[in-house]
Amino acid sequence: MRTQVAIVGAGPAGMLLSQLLHLQGIDSVVLERRSREYVQQRVRAGVLEQGTVDVLREADVADRLEKQGHPHHGVNVQFDGDRLRIPLSELTGGRSITVYGQQEVVKDLAERRERDGGRVYYEVPDVTVEGVETEKPVVRFTSEGRVRELHCDYVAGCDGFHGVSRTTIPEKELTTYERVYPFGWLGILAEVEPSSEELIYSNHPNGFALHSLRSSTLSRLYLQCDPNESIEQWPDDLIWEELQTRLGTSDWKLREGPVIDKNITALRSFVSEPMRYGRLFLAGDSAHIVPPTGAKGLNLAVADVDRLARSLTDYYHHGSTTGLETYSEECLRRVWRVQHFSWWMTSLTHRFDGPDAAYDRRLQRSQFDYLRSSTAAATTLAENYVGLAAV
Ligand code: FAD
Ligand code: PHB
Repeated sequence: MRTQVAIVGAGPAGMLLSQLLHLQGIDSVVLERRSREYVQQRVRAGVLEQGTVDVLREADVADRLEKQGHPHHGVNVQFDGDRLRIPLSELTGGRSITVYGQQEVVKDLAERRERDGGRVYYEVPDVTVEGVETEKPVVRFTSEGRVRELHCDYVAGCDGFHGVSRTTIPEKELTTYERVYPFGWLGILAEVEPSSEELIYSNHPNGFALHSLRSSTLSRLYLQCDPNESIEQWPDDLIWEELQTRLGTSDWKLREGPVIDKNITALRSFVSEPMRYGRLFLAGDSAHIVPPTGAKGLNLAVADVDRLARSLTDYYHHGSTTGLETYSEECLRRVWRVQHFSWWMTSLTHRFDGPDAAYDRRLQRSQFDYLRSSTAAATTLAENYVGLAAV
């Protein structure tokens, strides 16, 4: 088989890249380890920056997003039951975020690629990437019992943190940076009308909690937890009790309803540099991970892919390799801005145990008070949260 760009991974990064390239007349093949059903049911991100919505519009996959997505003009930060609204749009010249589930973005992309005859292979567990330091990379995989060889000009590694692409780069060529947090997030999806129109990030002595939503009938909620706990240790009653405690205020209560999905995710920060090795380009979670507190992972993946699609278009349409050569450096500038913001939001809103715990909590209180009293401080949060246009 032959294509121009072989894409490993059919998550948001891989599918969006395939669609953006298609609109430029550039051929790609997408290879995904899991089934299509699995990829589309996986409940993850929900907050799209304005820049992300713009790219999805450009990719011509935003019809349902325009109808069903919820624009938000503010977000709440809470400390010890004290709630502060950050007026995002007011502080950023009218910019906003849109709440729309990541799996809906992936569904929209998959449907669109299918309609346009895109080649996407699901359930291929044994992808290997070879020869990316030569002019002729080859990707091998087995599909429906047949071993296949895919010849291409470039490979895009969009296969997430546990993917195969990054591991094909010799270790000595990469520098990795990592911080593993001593906690995770327990996330639930519940069939109940959201209790607040806007998100609430809450820091309570018991730990962090987040109120988010998906639609007028679906709430998405998170609790800080031990990353090694199993989900069986958290019966629904206990989850609701803890959410009420951590999110409640003297005049506000959380609505409860049937839990239809729950899981635990460990929190980590990770960056692998550079994001290019020969003809292999990493994009999204395969190159970097942020803790979900800033709601940035998906947005960063979209920013990478947008840049990669433009660089490949410049190469195929105009013979210019400048964009491909500067891809890694340009992406990493945004990656590190977002690393900092996500670390900062995590530090502000989570419970940290250990010998400095009392000191850390006083610092959090001070930062929270500063957000309340200073427009400059609130604007820093707001402009990072809605997404910086240029970094
Ligand atoms: P992925 O979504 O991980 O997709 C990679 C794909 O590659 C997967 O389908 C995988 O099956 C496939 N794959 C892996 N290995 C192979 C292989 N060897 N061969 C072939 N295919 C392979 N981000 C936000 O922006 N906003 C949020 O609100 C937000 N909330 C989050 C909440 C939670 C609980 C979590 C866990 C994450 C959240 N994120 C959020 C992060 C966001 O979900 C990720 O950053 C995003 O999924 C990255 O997209 P991706 O396409 O790079 O990687
Ligand atoms: C979500 O709705 O899933 C969500 C919202 C904000 C975050 C993380 C996740 O920071």
